[in-house]
Amino acid sequence: ATTPTRADKFSFGLWTIGYNGSDPFGGPTRPALDVVEAVEKLDELGAYGLTFHDDDLFAFGSTDAERQTQIDRLKGALDATGLIVPMVTTNLFSAPVFKDGGFTSNDRQVRRFALRKVLRNIDLAAELGASTFVMWGGREGSEYDSAKDVQAALERYREAVNLLADYVTDKGYGIRFAIEPKPNEPRGDILLPTLGHAIAFTETLERPELFGINPEVGHEQMAGLNFTAGIAQALYQGKLFHIDLNGQRGIKYDQDLVFGHGDLQNAFSLVDLLEHGSPQGGQAYDGPRHFDYKPSRTEDISGVWDSASANMRMYLLLKERAQAFRADPEVQAALEASKVGELSTPTLNDGESYDAFLSDRSAYEDFDADAYFGGKGFGFVRLQQLAIEHLLGAR
Ligand code: GCO
Ligand code: MN
Ligand code: MN
Ligand code: MN
Repeated sequence: ATTPTRADKFSFGLWTIGYNGSDPFGGPTRPALDVVEAVEKLDELGAYGLTFHDDDLFAFGSTDAERQTQIDRLKGALDATGLIVPMVTTNLFSAPVFKDGGFTSNDRQVRRFALRKVLRNIDLAAELGASTFVMWGGREGSEYDSAKDVQAALERYREAVNLLADYVTDKGYGIRFAIEPKPNEPRGDILLPTLGHAIAFTETLERPELFGINPEVGHEQMAGLNFTAGIAQALYQGKLFHIDLNGQRGIKYDQDLVFGHGDLQNAFSLVDLLEHGSPQGGQAYDGPRHFDYKPSRTEDISGVWDSASANMRMYLLLKERAQAFRADPEVQAALEASKVGELSTPTLNDGESYDAFLSDRSAYEDFDADAYFGGKGFGFVRLQQLAIEHLLGAR
């Protein structure tokens, strides 16, 4: 079961496999990848979807005819293979005009242009049947505190996305929006830097039900945060609309490694959570398993496809390991000993009022906090060792 199939819902950004190796210190190490080849190869490898930014498919500034040619070529490849486009996104970060952002550029004319670019791309997303529209605001931010009024930027972001929500509603498009947080890079500081900031922001919108998040493994880890824990909160709040899987090794530049080639323990707990929900049956995830990684610049085109396969195989291997972890009776006993399940029992009795609670002497007056555990521990370390042994395939 480590051979990917469509039922696994693996998708890739055209910009991921299409990454030509350019970085701030050197030019391309690989030729451009054509979209038709990308679709055919992804299909062959077992993926079910391709995602893209407008500018990945047709260069910024393309004529209408050039744009249409590329759309038609994509559609032809989709028809021929049965691959789908589950998500579309708009590039508001590469063109020089967006150097201070799109929706939140200090320049009003740039903001109006950005919004039109996105509206046009939403029409395309709907035409291709995408159900999620991702918004990564890489250039929305600043390097200097004095240069950006953050409260005004949030207000302009709200203005923009409220309009988009009205638009998809009036048009009857079945599209929801997913905001992708990132703490920094390319800007010194990016607006809505973590998934927590982004979730809180969605609640301020006029149609909050249309807005969720698209968290990326590496982005939260760049901020030193526990990705699995953040995803658990996003699931809990019904906000996990999409996900970007990749690998990152600690707090440094955005590495976009293959999934699992960074913090492997966290990748294991993540797959366990996405596949099974929390141990007591809390919400799991059924959307696309989308890889947003960059095949390292050291690789040639066969290395690109090897790395694409590696993402999917890694996910499936971790899924197998997570299933074995859950099924192991010793793990079940260790979970029990650690009282992991007891956290799902409400703290108050059914219907217990604060008056009844205050009169329960066993909860406080007669509770001997020092004697209660009698020196007994929770056994979390043993549980963690069992998890790692399953991850290693040692059990
Ligand atoms: C990055 C981001 C992007 C976005 C993409 C789609 O760090 O470069 O992760 O790759 O995911 O723009 O929104
Ligand atoms: Mn990244
Ligand atoms: Mn990235
Ligand atoms: Mn991403």
